[in-house]
Amino acid sequence: MAVTIKELSYQYPDGTTGLHSISVKMARGKRTAILGINGSGKSTLLYHLNGTFLPQKGEIIVLDEPVTKNNLENVRKKVGFLFDYPDHQLFATTVARDVAFGPRNYRFSEEEATKAAETAMTKVGIMELKEKPPYQLSLGQKKRTAIAGVLAMNPDLIVCDEPFSGLDTYAEEQFKSVLDEWINEGKSLIFSTHDIDMVYGWADEVVIMAEGKILEIGCAEHILNNKELMQRAKLRRPILAEIFEDRTEKPRTTFEALKYIKSGTFDSLKKINSKEEKK
Ligand SMILES: Nc1ncnc2c1ncn2[C@@H]1O[C@H](COP(=O)(O)OP(=O)(O)O)[C@@H](O)[C@H]1O
Ligand SMILES: [Mg+2]
Repeated sequence: MAVTIKELSYQYPDGTTGLHSISVKMARGKRTAILGINGSGKSTLLYHLNGTFLPQKGEIIVLDEPVTKNNLENVRKKVGFLFDYPDHQLFATTVARDVAFGPRNYRFSEEEATKAAETAMTKVGIMELKEKPPYQLSLGQKKRTAIAGVLAMNPDLIVCDEPFSGLDTYAEEQFKSVLDEWINEGKSLIFSTHDIDMVYGWADEVVIMAEGKILEIGCAEHILNNKELMQRAKLRRPILAEIFEDRTEKPRTTFEALKYIKSGTFDSLKKINSKEEKK
C-alpha cells in the first residue's frame, strides 16, 4: 500500500474539525485523486502524508514508514510534497539553486545534487530558466520549478495539493505528462482537486471527502457515476458521463468524445435529432 490510515482525527487549534476519524488504504502505482468541495478536509489529509501535520489521534503508514515525529526524516525521503501555492516552497536566489536545495540538504554530494537538479529541470522543461530568480516566473513556471525540486529528490510518492489550479490548459497538459511519465516508472501520486471532469479522464482511483470524512474510495469511473454518492458529497457528475449516459460508448476525455462524434456515432446522433424534429 502507498498509504494506510487508521482512525485519524485532526482538530485545528480554534476547535474546527479538520478530519473526523478517517480510515483508508490507497494503492501504490496509481494516480489517486482526493475529491471534495472546499473545506471538506483534502488539504488537512494531505498535510498528514509527509508529516507536515502529525496525527493527534489514530495512525498513518506511508510506504511502510509510520508518520511519527521520530521517523520524519525517513518519511520525507520517500514522500515529495507540492503545496498548492508554489511561493510556499520556492525561496532560493535562482531556479537551479532551488531545485538542487532538497538533494543538497539530504546529504547528496555537490556534484550529485547538481546532476539530480539538471535531470529534473530537463524533464520539466525549465533549463532555460535556471539562472532566473523564482519570484520573476509565471505561475506555470513556478509550479514546474517546484515539481522539479520534488523530482530531484526521487521520492516514491508525490503528494500534490490542487496541482492544476490556476494553470492554463497547455501548462496543465504539460504538467500531467510529467506526472504520467513518473507514474509509468511505477511511482505513486496522490493529489487533491475539485475538478471532476479532469479526474474522470485522468485519475485511476478516487477518494470522495465531505465534512472531514471519507465517503468512498474506488476506481474513477465507478465512483463518479454513483449519483447518490456524488450528491451526498455536493458534487456533480462528470459532464461526459451525463452526455454519454444512454450510449454504449463512454469516453472520459473530450479528445475521446470528439473521436466518437466524428465517427459513425455522430450519424446516429443526427438521426435521433432529426426524428425528434419531425415529431
Ligand atoms: N488553519 C486553520 N484553522 C482553523 N480551521 C481550519 C484551518 N485550515 C482549515 N481549517 C478548516 O478545516 C476544514 C478542512 O479544511 P481543508 O482541509 O483546508 O479543506 P479543503 O482542502 O478540502 O478545502 C474546513 O472546515 C476549514 O475551514
Ligand atoms: Mg485545500
